[in-house]
Amino acid sequence: METYKLLLFLAAVIIEGNAAMINLAGGPKSNYTFPKNFLFGVSTAAAQIEGAWNEDGKSESIWDHLIHTNPSFVKDGSNADVAADSYHLYKRDAEMVHELAVDIYRFSISWPRVLPTGLANYVNPLGIQYYKNLIDELIKYNITPMVTIYHWDLPQKLQDIGGWTNAHIVDYFTDYAKVLFDNFGDKVKYWVTFNEPMQTCLEGYGGTYRAPALNRHGVAEYLCTHNLLKAHASVYHLFDTNYRSLNGGKIGMSLDSNWAEPKTNTPSDREAAELYLRTHVGWYAHPVYSAEGNYPPELIKLVDEKSRLQNYTRSRLPKFTPEEVAFIKGTADFFGLNHYTTYLLSMADKEVGAIPSHENDVGIVRVQDPKWPSRSSSSWLKVVPFGFRRLLKWITKTYNNVPIIVTENGYADFSGIDDAARVSYYSHYLNALLHAIHEDHSNVHGYFAWSLMDNFEWDDGYVSRFGLYLVDFKSPNKTRTAKHSAKLYASVVTSRGLPPDYDPEDFTAFSGASLLMPTVLPLIPLYRLMV
Ligand code: NOJ
Repeated sequence: METYKLLLFLAAVIIEGNAAMINLAGGPKSNYTFPKNFLFGVSTAAAQIEGAWNEDGKSESIWDHLIHTNPSFVKDGSNADVAADSYHLYKRDAEMVHELAVDIYRFSISWPRVLPTGLANYVNPLGIQYYKNLIDELIKYNITPMVTIYHWDLPQKLQDIGGWTNAHIVDYFTDYAKVLFDNFGDKVKYWVTFNEPMQTCLEGYGGTYRAPALNRHGVAEYLCTHNLLKAHASVYHLFDTNYRSLNGGKIGMSLDSNWAEPKTNTPSDREAAELYLRTHVGWYAHPVYSAEGNYPPELIKLVDEKSRLQNYTRSRLPKFTPEEVAFIKGTADFFGLNHYTTYLLSMADKEVGAIPSHENDVGIVRVQDPKWPSRSSSSWLKVVPFGFRRLLKWITKTYNNVPIIVTENGYADFSGIDDAARVSYYSHYLNALLHAIHEDHSNVHGYFAWSLMDNFEWDDGYVSRFGLYLVDFKSPNKTRTAKHSAKLYASVVTSRGLPPDYDPEDFTAFSGASLLMPTVLPLIPLYRLMV
């Protein structure tokens, strides 16, 4: 190639790359600040940090069981038996939350630690004591506890009898929640019934990506969701009727959602993006947060029609009775949102996914723009701040101005105290959040960073690190050290705004991403041998 053509080509690549980056920001530089009563927090989950998997009477969870019986499930061959050892180190955890200067700490309670049989016939006193100690330690620092009742660690004994596909689980979950309200309700003012139920049902029962990795797609994810939504509503009503007047407090659910951007600006791609939102986050949100309740009509139509064509006697999507629709509708004080990234959507022009499956029923295709920055150890985690802002606007509009609490947002890397990429990710996403609040009037009341510290990232083991604090998993006392991002986050919380040197057009912390990923991923088994 002639030199001038080569130069023109390189210039085009650079210009195109920069243009893509500039457009990613959630808004220009501003002096916006977070409202005075805006809640800042940080999140964790029991199965990812506690360890002590069989200590003091705890029984096996579905994650313990899956990994113990199938160790290759986790990419680095690790498990969560010890994890960050928070069962013993909770005092240090509370101290770290205090160092971050946040108002609130979201942690989850391990069902098999509190009810080792899964049922409420026996309440484990040592399990209860552990959470009482943690809650008191937080309150000592004036930190508000927020409890997630279910963050994926079902007692294996309940899985043995069908888990979330067994209709009796509605009662079992309600009994479990009652034990928590009775024991902790005087001190806990925020409750989340379920964390990311779509991961539990779609990936755990429909697929193989989460425990119990059942792989009964097309049927089990719908059954699981059906029981789970009833269980959520049942616990909401228990709280609302018997506990709210005693202790006050708020209860909601945390739903995971990517933003869906149309792949091109055609009507068909725009329809695909909207359909993605309605049939994914809307699968759980529509029954609870919409004015009419029930599953989204689009999903009902698609699954009913496919089931008929596939010769099923009845739709694979179970139906709620009108009484059940009314029982589930309106059962949340806030919309908990876990958000990390964005996808591009288009309509499928042929069958997609396994037959039958939710993916096949919905019939859309999602991809990510290879130009979006990443460099994350979690390959799906592309950095697209504008998507966060658009999603908040969509939720506010679609669900009648519901109060939103962002219960998770964060970035994963391969480790290190000097985590410039995470600093940049939080700055960009918090900038997008400020614009969402001030310009779009999205009804956001709080924001939690995921996560307080490095932890067991499910099938990614300890390779993918989300922590604001680095955990030295090799050290006997799992030493925790603040990363640069912890300092950034504490400064945002204290000043209620972004640092003066924040540049919404600067995505350089993520450069080199696409080169790094293919080089590093095959090395994971080697890394495991070294640690
Ligand atoms: C959502 C889940 O709630 C959490 O457990 C997980 O670690 C993060 N996303 C990061 O993948």
